[in-house]
Amino acid sequence: METIEQSKFKSKSKIGGNSTNPIRISEVKKEDYQKRVSTGIGELDRVLGGGIVNGMVTLVAGEPGIGKSTLLLQLADKVGNRDWALGTRGGKKSSVLYIAGEESASQIANRAARLGIKGGNIVVLEETDVDAVLGQIGQIGPIGLIIVDSIQTMTTGDLTGSAGAVGQVRECTQRLAGFAKKTGIPVFIVGHVTKEGAIAGPRVLEHIVDTVIWFEGERSGQLRMIKAVKNRFGATDEVGVFAMEGKGLIEVINPSKFFLGESGKVPGSAVTAVLEGTRPMLVEIQALVVQTKLAFPKRSGVGVDPRRLEIIIAVLTRKVGLPLWDYDIFVNVTGGIRVTEPAADLAIALAVASAFHNKPLLPHSVAIGEVGLLGEIREVPGREKRGKEAKRIGFAGTITNKEARTVAEAIKRYISSK
Ligand code: TYD
Ligand code: MG
Repeated sequence: METIEQSKFKSKSKIGGNSTNPIRISEVKKEDYQKRVSTGIGELDRVLGGGIVNGMVTLVAGEPGIGKSTLLLQLADKVGNRDWALGTRGGKKSSVLYIAGEESASQIANRAARLGIKGGNIVVLEETDVDAVLGQIGQIGPIGLIIVDSIQTMTTGDLTGSAGAVGQVRECTQRLAGFAKKTGIPVFIVGHVTKEGAIAGPRVLEHIVDTVIWFEGERSGQLRMIKAVKNRFGATDEVGVFAMEGKGLIEVINPSKFFLGESGKVPGSAVTAVLEGTRPMLVEIQALVVQTKLAFPKRSGVGVDPRRLEIIIAVLTRKVGLPLWDYDIFVNVTGGIRVTEPAADLAIALAVASAFHNKPLLPHSVAIGEVGLLGEIREVPGREKRGKEAKRIGFAGTITNKEARTVAEAIKRYISSK
């Protein structure tokens, strides 16, 4: 069985014979990362950089309950159900080994049933001792993929710390990674992250694994996004979008449609185009402006950066002349996505102004622009790409610094004065 380490060695010896000589980078034989196997889940492939590579170690990180086990069980199903041929391992009948440290085999079987997975090719092993796991693999038969759920439950007897301790988590990951490199079997490792940040979690593992996939989303909502925050075999700026439904994670192929709903035609609504990685997505910003007698009116945003919201409200007050100090302001991004890009500023400003005037935006346009402190609209990266997405979804046009130089001008032109 040829592993990545071995092929590296071979490629070195092919060039000039003496591997200690310096080699022109153009002459170094490149690793064939093109040799990828699709996971069968398009949105996951996109984030991995095309699929799974021989011996690849992937950490899937996220808060408890976000959907890590669900995604990996779906992955196990897709992989286990196909002719799985990465490298020389496996062949048609190799199975996927699911190491269950967190849940019992019957809990996993229940989830599989819920997901409609028959799972004939998935083998569950209830074991938390990493050395026992690696020792048993030889007896299981050809394995095409290993899933470890989760790294916080794994231990090695060679260390004294309890499961979840930094030392244990790191050492177990190292052993799993070493195994993956030696055998070429790809390994997916689940790592929990707490709201407060990573306690003995994914952060200490980032340098050991090849790829880190971060799970995002509100547990209460449907939307789940996965992002590669590290990828030795591909780009890190891709995102995959899923909706958590009754039968597991469903790929969202057309995120703009998912986020938009019935938008734009009522007061307080504005659409913008955000870039998630290289992917433009249209999202709707909604604002509600309510008169208040409070000395400190409320400013509250869901899915937006509260500091940017404050700045935009200050600009609307001072540069546009809206008397917003008498009003509570609520802003929400629909669909559960978090919008942190300044490119959404203009849409936030227009949504608030539209709510204040109680008049919808005219015409049906997508607002793309950063708002400066002087009230000017600023250029943002990827304007063309965002504009194209707006057109594709059927919007009449865009509102950018080409159409209006200042926020005041945009409000005058695009909010109906009738
Ligand atoms: P899970 O994959 O167990 O999360 P993690 O492994 O990251 O802790 O997902 C748990 C949540 O997902 C749970 O609250 C229920 C929900 N869920 C669905 O909505 N639909 C489904 O089909 C499944 C399996 C789970
Ligand atoms: Mg889980």
